[in-house]
Order: sequence, then structure tokens, then C-alpha cells
Amino acid sequence: MDNSITTRSRNKIWFVFVILFVFWYLLLYGFDWSSLRGLTSISNDQEKSIESIVPKSIHLTNNHEEKETLVSDSGNTMNVIDNSGNTTNVTDDVADDNKEKHANDSSTEDDAIEDVDDLEKELEPIFVDDDAKYGVDSNNQENGKQEKSCAGRYIYVHDLPSRFNNDLLAQCKSLNKWTDMCQYLVNMGLGSELGNPGRIFSRTGWFNTNQFSLEVIFHNRMKQYDCLTNDSSEAAAIFVPYYAGLDISRHLWGSSFSERDSDSLDLVKWLREKPEWNVMWGRDHFMVAGRITWDFRRGVDEDNSWGNKLMLLPESKNMTMLTIESSPWNRNDFAIPYPTYFHPWTDNDVNQWQNKMRKRKRKSLFCFVGAPRPNMEDSIRGELMDQCKSSRRCKLIECSDQQNKCQKPVHIMKMFQNSAFCLQPPGDSFTRRSTFDSILAGCIPVFFSPGSAYVQYLWHLPKDFQKYSILIPEDEVKNKKVSIEKKLSQFSKSQVSAMREEVIKLIPNVTYADPRSKWQKLEDAFDLTVKGVIERVESLRQEIKEGKSSSLNFDEEDSWKYYTFGTVEKHEWDPFFLRTDRSRY
Ligand SMILES: *[C@@H]1O[C@H](CO)[C@@H](O)[C@H](O)[C@H]1NC(C)=O
Ligand SMILES: *[C@@H]1O[C@H](CO)[C@@H](O)[C@H](O)[C@H]1NC(C)=O
Ligand SMILES: *[C@@H]1O[C@H](CO)[C@@H](O)[C@H](O)[C@H]1NC(C)=O
Ligand SMILES: *[C@@H]1O[C@H](CO)[C@@H](O)[C@H](O)[C@H]1NC(C)=O
Ligand SMILES: *[C@@H]1O[C@H](CO)[C@@H](O)[C@H](O)[C@H]1NC(C)=O
Ligand SMILES: *[C@@H]1O[C@H](CO)[C@@H](O)[C@H](O)[C@H]1NC(C)=O
Repeated sequence: MDNSITTRSRNKIWFVFVILFVFWYLLLYGFDWSSLRGLTSISNDQEKSIESIVPKSIHLTNNHEEKETLVSDSGNTMNVIDNSGNTTNVTDDVADDNKEKHANDSSTEDDAIEDVDDLEKELEPIFVDDDAKYGVDSNNQENGKQEKSCAGRYIYVHDLPSRFNNDLLAQCKSLNKWTDMCQYLVNMGLGSELGNPGRIFSRTGWFNTNQFSLEVIFHNRMKQYDCLTNDSSEAAAIFVPYYAGLDISRHLWGSSFSERDSDSLDLVKWLREKPEWNVMWGRDHFMVAGRITWDFRRGVDEDNSWGNKLMLLPESKNMTMLTIESSPWNRNDFAIPYPTYFHPWTDNDVNQWQNKMRKRKRKSLFCFVGAPRPNMEDSIRGELMDQCKSSRRCKLIECSDQQNKCQKPVHIMKMFQNSAFCLQPPGDSFTRRSTFDSILAGCIPVFFSPGSAYVQYLWHLPKDFQKYSILIPEDEVKNKKVSIEKKLSQFSKSQVSAMREEVIKLIPNVTYADPRSKWQKLEDAFDLTVKGVIERVESLRQEIKEGKSSSLNFDEEDSWKYYTFGTVEKHEWDPFFLRTDRSRY
């Protein structure tokens, strides 16, 4: 008797304890505070939500892969800066090689909660809950994109033979010499879920996204586009879902040039034979090549020359080619943002994230994550890293050291969230994925060449670059004429917050929504891209109708200027875009 009573009351205490714990846990992690209004989105998303309640402390397998994703430049083997015209194997091969070896030594520590200090700081906003209010406000401000009619917005998607896209996904293991791409291609190309270690991210929507996955993400977003058509004659533009980057990545190292070209040549032959081609000789066609343009611009047919010649084919010259870095000196490619780790499900998820970034206390003035380029004579990275190391107000994550925090999204995003400015020097090429990671974190990007963003992402970034970023010309750094710390301290508090607000407003514009979701009001990077393409094709169509060719009436070398400013007059940025040898690319 006695015995059973104590057992029962012990059970009761235990039961109460469990209930309290569960309640507490759900309060902290499970409940989406701001989606009180958006119950529909929750139920749509239920599976996801439940998944995310389970702590994701188990994603350890991919540590080593993240270098390529993270550091933003690795894998971007490049030759543009080598004006001599010599194509060399770039440092990143080595870096990528390293990461195989360190596959196991990055430990589990990051996926556990980082430190108590941070945890407290992160909990605070949960109780001061005005996120929901913000969410409502910004939803009301936005124009309803749902209401738009499809007239003039139809897209026809070519039904390509599967060897140009899906078969490549099936070969994910062998797509890249250095990296097993399979883990990056799950979740429709977003990669595996990151969870929310240390509450650095948000409850859902964060993935271990590879910087070269864009063509898969874009294609999957396209499948959800609200104005698809099977009637190509009513289409405003024609999408070619070829995974050009996955294709060439198989052959970048050690293949013959003809091997590298073969699929591209087959593709354009296939396109040319379709009735859709002859309507505008391909000028209404567009495709995404999710690597930098220099992987597709091999100017000479030699085995030791880099990449394939996809972008140089006569057919491609008539198409609109979308890349993560375009050539300033060519007229057929247009840059669109690199994919980041954040692929929000709803508008509200975006608004919540923006509010979180608005509230961050930014303890350091500036920061840098990356590797030096000791083999590149002109690289300013060494100098920037030296300046950072000697400033108390700078934080540095150096990718070359073996502890390699830089392989972890959580470290990078945390540093960016704690800094006012993020340095974005060129690496092997002009652009970096890191630029978009820093925008995502509300960290004001500091560029050293207009080639890193201003002449690139014309449909996504504001023309007035001073509103959201800083430009410090590379030469000033090279000649040690400038102290970054001094330069950045010159901005007043209110100037800095105005710039930061502009950066934070840019977040939806440079973010790719989860392809399985549908944002209600905001437009994401995909939406802005499709808009840009359709406008461009429309003006080309108009030109053809009128028998003009003004889109071709400028020296191709001046493309960057023509597209950015609409004129090719002398410009103060000309020196940034001089090159000695045109013929190789
Ligand atoms: C290209 O590289 C080769 C060998 O590495 C070198 O001999 C040659 O001088 C280089 N060419 C130029 C133009 O720098
Ligand atoms: C990494 O660790 C796992 C188990 O802990 C082991 O099975 C695997 O072989 C290791 N990989 C390498 C590259 O050492
Ligand atoms: C186009 O045709 C395919 C198969 O014929 C069909 O599954 C698809 O729903 C159609 N799409 C549209 C937008 O009509
Ligand atoms: C470049 O890489 C290829 C393939 O890995 C190798 O055969 C070649 O020797 C390398 N060239 C240089 C200059 O390192
Ligand atoms: C590209 O377009 C031009 C017209 O602007 C046309 O003459 C040419 O044949 C097209 N090229 C191809 C490969 O279709
Ligand atoms: C983002 O894109 C929208 C169009 O969806 C545009 O109205 C807005 O001005 C852009 N935001 C910024 C900060 O440029």
C-alpha cells in the first residue's frame, strides 16, 4: 500500500517534471511566435516544423564540404586576373584537397549551443515579442504579387533530354573531383538542413547550400512559377533548364577540351533544331549557369586552357546567360545572386529574420573571412588580413588555418551578425558568395572593386551603391595608403544605421525562397531575375520588330558600362576594367 503510494507520487512528480520540460522546450524552440496570423502556412509546413523541433545536432557529415560553400571563392578557379593569359591551376584546388583530409577533425562543438552568453542574448528578443507586429506591417506595405495577371509574363520551359539535367543529379557523387555533391542536392538543391545551433539562424529555413547549386534551385523555383505555359507562342521568354555548371564541374580537372565542350555543343544543336529557336534566333531563350562565367569562356581549344566554351558559342551569344559572376567585357551574360544558406518558406520568415538582424548588437567594426592568395601578386587579401589582425575592432576567420571555423556556416554567420562592416575583396575572381552572406546578416559590405557587385547584380542591387555599401579602391590598399579601420570609423552612427537598414531591406531581394514554398507578397531573387529577363527579352523583341540592333551597337568590351549606366562614355571606373589580353576569354 504505502509502497504504491510513494511510487504513484513519485510518478506524478516525474510526470509534472516532464510536462514542464516539454512546455518549456516548446516555448523556446517549438512555437513560431510571429505566425499567429499565418496558421495556414504552419499547417502547410507542418512536417517541416516538426522536423525542426528535433534539434539538428547531428549534421556532422558535411563539415569538410563547407569550405567550398563558405569561403565563397574556392572552386572558382580563375584566370581573369592573370592578364598574361596564362591559365594556371589556382590555390583553391589545394584548399579543396585539404578539406578531404580534415573531414573528421572538425568536431561537433558548433552544433551544440555556443556559449551561455550568446544564449541569453538570443533568448531576450523572444520575450520582447514585437516580431509579429513587424511582420504584419511589412506585409501590408507590399504590393500583392499574387494579383498580377500573367499577360506578358508567361514562360515556356524546354523539355530537355534528361542527360542535360536530371541525369547529372543522379551522378552527384562524381560531379566534382573534390566534393561529394550528393548532400548538397537534397531538398531540391538547397542541401541538408542546418537546424539552429546557438540560435544563430532561425527556427527553419537554413540549409547547407553549396554556392554552385543555383541551377538546380532555380529550375525547381521555375517549376512553381505562376505563369508557366505549354504554348511557346504566348511565352515572354523560354527557359532552358540545362545544368551547365554541374556538367562542366565534372570535367574541369584533367579532361580534354573536347570532352568539356561536348554536352554544350549537343545542347545548342538540340535547341537550334527546335521550332522555338527560329522565332528570335534564341534571343528569347535564357539559362542559368551556376558557376562563374570564366568556367565557360575558354577562348582557345587547348587542353590546358580552363573550362569550356559554352558562353562563346554563337547560339549562346544570342541567349541571355545567367551566372553568379558575369563577364564585364561580354554582352550575353548577366549576374544573379549566389545562393546563401537561407531559403525562407514564408514572407513572415523573411520579416522575422530582418527584425532579428535589426536588433543585433554589433560588437566589432569590421570583419573578414577568407584565405590569403599568396600566389597572386596583385591580391590585397594579405594586406587586409594584416590590418585586421592588428586592429582590436576587427574579427578574422582565416580559412587557411587548420582549425577551420571557416568551414562552418554558423561561425561565419555569427561573425557577420556581430560586425558593422564585412570586407569583400576579390579572390580568384571579382565576386564572392560571402557578399550575399553578409547582406543576409545585415553586415554592410565593403568592396574593393566595382566588379565585385556594382556592375554585376544589376537587377538585384540598388544603382546607388553608396546607400548600402562602401567602395575602397583596391589600389589604395595595395599601396598601403589606407587604413581600413580609420576609413570605416569616419562614418557616423546614423550613417551606419542608415546603410545597414538598406542592407537589411535588400535581404528578400537577394534570397532564393524555398522552391517548395510560395511567398505571398515579397519578391525573391528568382522573381527579380525573371522580371529582368522578361524586360530584356521584351526590348530585344521590340528591336527586332523595328529592325534595329541598338543592343549590339557598342563595343562588347564596354558591356559593363553599357549595362550599368546605359552609356559607354569615359568613366572613373575605367581603370578597374582594363585588360591586356582579350583574346583568351
Ligand atoms: C606562362 O607560363 C609559362 C610557364 O609557367 C611562363 O614560362 C611564361 O612566361 C608565362 N607567360 C606569361 C605571358 O606570363
Ligand atoms: C570519419 O569518421 C567515421 C566514424 O566516426 C568513420 O567511419 C570514417 O571512416 C571517418 N572518415 C575519415 C575520412 O576518416
Ligand atoms: C504542360 O503539359 C504537361 C504534359 O503534357 C502537363 O503535365 C503540364 O501541366 C502542362 N503545363 C501547363 C502550364 O499547362
Ligand atoms: C593542373 O591540374 C592538372 C590536373 O589536375 C594537372 O595535370 C596539371 O599538371 C596542373 N598544372 C599545373 C601547372 O599545376
Ligand atoms: C543569332 O542572331 C542573329 C540575328 O541577330 C542571327 O542572324 C544568327 O543566325 C543567330 N545565331 C544563331 C546561331 O542562331
Ligand atoms: C527589392 O525589390 C523590390 C521589388 O520586389 C523593390 O521594390 C525594392 O526597392 C527592392 N529593395 C531594395 C532595397 O532595393
